[in-house]
Amino acid sequence: MKVLVIGSGGREHALAWKSAQDENVTEVFVCPGNAGTELEDKLTNIEIEHNDFESIAAFCSEENISLVIIGPEQPLVMGLADFLLSKKINVFGPSQAAAQLEGSKTFSKDFFVKYGIPTAAYKSFDGFTDALRYLDSIDYPTVIKADGLAAGKGVIICSTKSEAISALESIFKDKAFGSAGSRVVIEEFLEGEEASFIAVVSKNKIVSLATSQDHKAVCEGDVGLNTGGMGAYSPAPIVTDAINQKILDEVMKPTMQGLIDEGSPYLGFLYAGIMIKDGEIKVLEFNCRFGDPETQPIMMRLKSSLVELCLDAIEDKLETHQIEWSSKSACGVVIASGGYPEQYKSNQEISLDEINGADIKLFHAGTKMLNDSIVTSGGRVFCATALGNDLKDAQEKAYELVNKVSFNGAFHRKDIGYKGIYMGVKWV
Ligand code: AMP
Ligand code: GLY
Repeated sequence: MKVLVIGSGGREHALAWKSAQDENVTEVFVCPGNAGTELEDKLTNIEIEHNDFESIAAFCSEENISLVIIGPEQPLVMGLADFLLSKKINVFGPSQAAAQLEGSKTFSKDFFVKYGIPTAAYKSFDGFTDALRYLDSIDYPTVIKADGLAAGKGVIICSTKSEAISALESIFKDKAFGSAGSRVVIEEFLEGEEASFIAVVSKNKIVSLATSQDHKAVCEGDVGLNTGGMGAYSPAPIVTDAINQKILDEVMKPTMQGLIDEGSPYLGFLYAGIMIKDGEIKVLEFNCRFGDPETQPIMMRLKSSLVELCLDAIEDKLETHQIEWSSKSACGVVIASGGYPEQYKSNQEISLDEINGADIKLFHAGTKMLNDSIVTSGGRVFCATALGNDLKDAQEKAYELVNKVSFNGAFHRKDIGYKGIYMGVKWV
């Protein structure tokens, strides 16, 4: 059986690597992939752009692909899953309509209210003047979000009204997020601790994946600009069995049913960003895909087949799927290019010391081959991931792996996993 993974990040390296471990899988193609997927056994990169749906479909027919897994949100929101399905290709990923849960913050917030899903109070605005007027009537801090896709960077937390005015100016006037910012959501600031709840969903059936948390802020102590995620770990002790059940009952099940009622049943990974405080939960956002970097530690812990899980979801057989997890903990530390999440340099030559050892894996993200060398090609370059007997052990092994990588400007957070290890203790 042949599998095609769409995307080029650390998430896609991990999904492709895990798919290749299935003994029924002979080859995994990655479109377009990175240097990590290029160098891995059983994996082959193909040079087709995400938005070239026709070429992707033609490739699937030529190669007789049994399963396409779509990694990033962009092609999902553009309707790649619908297109491949219309060509009778076996695709794992939500329709364009269902992907609106991530594609538009206004859509998702209105959906939460309609289906009684707990979330922060909010209002959306299409123009600067109305949004500006609204700033007089709210408490601070407040949160201003570009409505559309902005690679995890379209959210601005404003401590004061003057910060909020600057945020609105940068979104509406300077077009900081392009057309993604032609509408904004202004919402109540929530306190608490965030967790990533990720599941495989097929219509009204769900298989929850192992619990996880990521660290979104760029600096130690979870401060500084938001990024796509600077590291992640699994399991997340904050997600107790009771919280897990609450998320299933109050968030996931009403969402699955709501999408069915709207005529857009879900198929794919569904990721709810949840704020947890004193045993209560609120949804921050939905993503219509797996988390990056959450995928990397979660795939290290998955013992059963990812490919079978996706195929069972497509064939509506999730209720009989037996998912199996390693009881070990996993931790992944992102190594980023200097300057990320703002301006950074690409094409920096990378040197890697010899990397051997059970339970460790260096997932590539923003890397590519250039004249037989591996060079940087993105903000997040690697995710050094390790399994350990507990989270502390996994963290130590992941940091040993980080030390084997060097390139000009490389940086990483030194505290990935601390929220899980010292649960409830604030970083000082
Ligand atoms: P989002 O893309 O909506 O998940 O927002 C990205 C990040 O911004 C979240 O993971 C939180 O860290 C933060 N954030 C978003 N909304 C809120 C909120 N209402 N209160 C506090 N923090 C938030
Ligand atoms: N790690 C956060 C995300 O994938 O959106």
